[in-house]
Amino acid sequence: MTQKSFKLWGGRFHKPADKLAEEFTESISFDSRLYRHDILGSVAHVKMLSKCGLVPKNEAVRIVSALRGLEKEISKRVKAGRFKLDKKYEDIHTYIEKKVIEKVGDAIGSKIHTARSRNDQVSVDLRLYIKDEIREILLLLSGVCNVILDNAKKYRDVLMPGYTHMQVAKPIYFRDYILAYFEMFYRDSQRLLDCLKRMDFSPLGAGAIGGTFYKKTDRASVARYLGFSGVVSNTVDAVSDRDFVIEFIFDLAMITLHISRISEDFVIWLNPQFGFISLDESFMTGSSILPQKKNPDVCEIARAKTGRLYGNLMTLLTLMKGLPLSYNRDMQEDKPPLFDSADTVKSTLRIYTKMLEKLGVNKQKMLEVLVEASGYAVAPKMVDYLAEKGFSLRKAHGFVSNLVKYCEAKKINLLSLKRPDLADFVNNFYKPDKGFVGYLVGRSKAGSARKAAESAPGQYLLEEWFNEKFLKECTSLSLPAVDKNGDRQFKDVSERIRGIMNETSAYYK
Ligand code: ARG
Repeated sequence: MTQKSFKLWGGRFHKPADKLAEEFTESISFDSRLYRHDILGSVAHVKMLSKCGLVPKNEAVRIVSALRGLEKEISKRVKAGRFKLDKKYEDIHTYIEKKVIEKVGDAIGSKIHTARSRNDQVSVDLRLYIKDEIREILLLLSGVCNVILDNAKKYRDVLMPGYTHMQVAKPIYFRDYILAYFEMFYRDSQRLLDCLKRMDFSPLGAGAIGGTFYKKTDRASVARYLGFSGVVSNTVDAVSDRDFVIEFIFDLAMITLHISRISEDFVIWLNPQFGFISLDESFMTGSSILPQKKNPDVCEIARAKTGRLYGNLMTLLTLMKGLPLSYNRDMQEDKPPLFDSADTVKSTLRIYTKMLEKLGVNKQKMLEVLVEASGYAVAPKMVDYLAEKGFSLRKAHGFVSNLVKYCEAKKINLLSLKRPDLADFVNNFYKPDKGFVGYLVGRSKAGSARKAAESAPGQYLLEEWFNEKFLKECTSLSLPAVDKNGDRQFKDVSERIRGIMNETSAYYK
């Protein structure tokens, strides 16, 4: 006795699926969003079947037009928010085949599945979907990069404290800070392009596993029609592989890692105690109980979303671990984490682009911190100055460390260090020993240095080394005038953004 079934495999069964089993194994509740890719893959496949003589031309035309009509209908329902499919269809592949059969009849409609299986079908759907997502995400990344560049230009002269270990390290240009994020997003873009290059192959024709028994099929023409750069050459691998999904969501996880770092920087800098930046009020939120608050919730939520992306990546790595070749139904579970990662990254990049457009930078506050940090931020400059003059790095570091200690004890800001302070330092606080003075004499050009050093070492040091020139060069926050206005850097950045977009378009002919 056979059962009338909505399943593509119902004929072999005596009983219909248990309701619970049907609910448990369906994927249509989440894979229906692949309908456009599924239809596109089916059109390509039917055209190939017709070219190879496996489906008569007039029948192929009817199937293709049914598929196109169906796509329009579904799109309308999606737009109207009315695309919810009955779980009896199991998955989107089944639904589309059933609908085509409804439109053109069983005798013609069911030929759609000639020489293919849902195993190669789902792989092609995923690849087409990911290709579309990569294009969109690359575009969004270039949007973020452009707005970062705009900010770098707008605040090109702003000096800010650069931090290591969350402690003021030295003055840096704000533009260098913000463009560090450009570099990260640029590498993220390169990674996505690389992922695209590796996955841009059509698995169709692999069937359930290992190809089909048909003598005349043409995998290459399907691949060409779909815009792939070739076919997956191994027909077992074609239905087993989900590396491309994992690689893609790893790349996305990396993007959110970078987003979480910029978010954290912003959370800190939005704290009124720092007050380095401001965001448009429309991107801040208030507190229900603390009326004075303006909270950086967008940044915090963006930071939190990173966890979801890592979770999705871990889910897929675990899902695929130890699966025997080739297709296993486990692999159906790849979709929720995949879709979630792509959706989350897109919404995060969108909000960041908009938020960064209205970034405000408080130059004064940044400067205040540099100065207030007792000017210690210039200590590395002193070390570099001395090392450039021929000190060994260690000796320069030792000298400046002691100077910092002295200034700390005397409550002197390094930025307002004067000759008498230096004199007091070398004569009373840090009397460099004979070895140190001898070392400096060896580096001195003046022939009379030794005599002067021997009779009055403190005076010698002040004249020869820690003189007006030293103070002038080392007690200002200015940075060396390499690429003074950042113009070269800006040009390089915009060229690289353009380069990524050009490279991308080559994959979507
Ligand atoms: N819905 C399945 C998936 O998403 C595809 C169907 C393959 N099923 C099968 N029994 N071979 O992976």
